[in-house]
Amino acid sequence: MNIAIDGPAGAGKSTIAKILAEKLGMNYIDTGAMYRAITLKAIENNIDFNDVSSLINLVNNTDIKISNGRIYLDSKDVTDKIRTPLVSQKVSKIAAISEIREKMICLQRELAENGNVIMDGRDIGTVVLPNASLKFFITATVEERAKRRFLELKAKGYDVNYDNIKKEILSRDEQDMKRKISPLKLAEDAIVIDTSNKEIEEIIQEILQQHITRR
Ligand code: C5P
Repeated sequence: MNIAIDGPAGAGKSTIAKILAEKLGMNYIDTGAMYRAITLKAIENNIDFNDVSSLINLVNNTDIKISNGRIYLDSKDVTDKIRTPLVSQKVSKIAAISEIREKMICLQRELAENGNVIMDGRDIGTVVLPNASLKFFITATVEERAKRRFLELKAKGYDVNYDNIKKEILSRDEQDMKRKISPLKLAEDAIVIDTSNKEIEEIIQEILQQHITRR
């Protein structure tokens, strides 16, 4: 059995997916981390984000591995480095390139082929794992999402501004929803969970209840 979790930026998908994976004894796979790792490599190699063929070439020469909740880019652990505001600002451009998505989707399906996976992203329930046994669409108001991201980045020591974060989230959502290939959208059979004004434990209980009912 696999569980798909999709939703817009900063809705709490990864926090929820990690707790659920622990409670249910499943493997957590963060697909956003894969697109972020490629973005990091493109930034570090000074590649022009409008130069699609160079970006595709870069991905074809990149090794991405996920193991025990860590992400490795060409064998280097980049789990923390991929969370910078600059990577967040650029990642949707990379994620809109169909050749890059095809490669990532293959990798994601391989990781899920033996089941027992909780995968989060934007197109998991619609494209990557359309047969997932349970699908959730996690959302929250943009103000709530920006507030959470602001506090998270501030705690990490970044000099951040709430309004800029809100703008970045809105811009990323727009790019993710409007792209031609695998846009962020609600799968017909997904259960929608609005996390605004909800405590994490309440959300987890709601999801676990669905898990028991659907099993
Ligand atoms: O989940 P996270 O916010 O880290 O994702 C970063 C970006 O990666 C998203 O804004 C989106 O552009 C891209 N992404 C995607 N498809 C996925 C996961 C992430 O396009 N399955």
